[in-house]
Amino acid sequence: MGQFDGKVAVITGAGRGIGRETALLMAREGARIVVNDLGGGPQGGGADAQYAQQVVDEIKAAGGQAVAETSSVSGMAGGKAVVDCAMDTFGRLDFLINNAGIIRPKRITEMSEEDFDIVLAVNLKGYFATIRAGAQHLKKQGGAIVNFASPSGFGHYGMANYSAAKEGVVGMTRSVARELAEFGVRANVIRPISGPTTMNIPEVLETLGYAMNVLKIPPLTNQWLGNSGPYGAPQNVAAVTAWLCSDLSENLNGRELYVNGGHIALVQEPEFIRSQFAVEGWSFEGLCQEATTRALTWDIRNRFTGK
Ligand SMILES: NC(=O)c1ccc[n+]([C@@H]2O[C@H](COP(=O)([O-])OP(=O)(O)OC[C@H]3O[C@@H](n4cnc5c(N)ncnc54)[C@H](O)[C@@H]3O)[C@@H](O)[C@H]2O)c1
Repeated sequence: MGQFDGKVAVITGAGRGIGRETALLMAREGARIVVNDLGGGPQGGGADAQYAQQVVDEIKAAGGQAVAETSSVSGMAGGKAVVDCAMDTFGRLDFLINNAGIIRPKRITEMSEEDFDIVLAVNLKGYFATIRAGAQHLKKQGGAIVNFASPSGFGHYGMANYSAAKEGVVGMTRSVARELAEFGVRANVIRPISGPTTMNIPEVLETLGYAMNVLKIPPLTNQWLGNSGPYGAPQNVAAVTAWLCSDLSENLNGRELYVNGGHIALVQEPEFIRSQFAVEGWSFEGLCQEATTRALTWDIRNRFTGK
């Protein structure tokens, strides 16, 4: 008996990395899997159907059930195709795991419109597309959505496009969680760190190194991450993903988990940390009086210049 006997999961980007490990794990636990993967390069472009097929072959060899689906989940048609594949092949949808992702690291002064658009398409719009197509089926019996964001969304030197997409995913998930809760569908976010995957490209290492070694600021998030035991493996993230699909995490909805190897953390919900009120409403002149805003910002400094 597996945790997911009789259930059906769509996993995007499941040909490699975290998605692959999630597909293998959930199949071992009895789920029937739609293994979606375009099989392109880590910066977008290209396609190779062998990655999705290899994972399907592995699942079947171990006695599980899976089907390969190779649409690009970067727009509405791809999102619908992957959900249709689940319904046509297995007749139901219980879990939707939006894991496909690409990166195009560039400094903002060098980032083209195409660099921005392609990253938003795969990492954000594609997630909307699968949820838009899948929600009607998830609602029938309840289920779970797991969306992949990133610690990069907290702020990451050289990754403005990717940060924008991944924080879009977080906001979208919080909203979808509110909309689908009444139908027994939960939606949560994972911010993973895991390697080595196809995303560990030299351009990422260059921008990380510049932030750490030249600017001497944490390259992503506001904290120095690490020292959390072994560097995260895709299997560690897959375990959290599967747990978020299971009923054992039924109290989590619209929440975020960070995971890196042996470190798992519940992320703070955004909230006001301090408020200041003006009876007549704020004016520019009012804000320019140091005494009024001092209570709000007196101890804040510009972390990125040291001022
Ligand atoms: N690995 C990390 O440290 C890390 C950190 C933060 C966030 N993430 C996120 O976790 C998720 C998985 O990352 P990973 O490290 O396993 O990456 P990966 O590159 O190993 O796997 C991603 C898969 O997505 C597929 N894919 C890309 N574009 C696609 C498209 N348009 N349609 C269908 N499939 C597509 C790729 O072919 C690839 O197999 C991604 O969303 C990524 O942004 C990873």
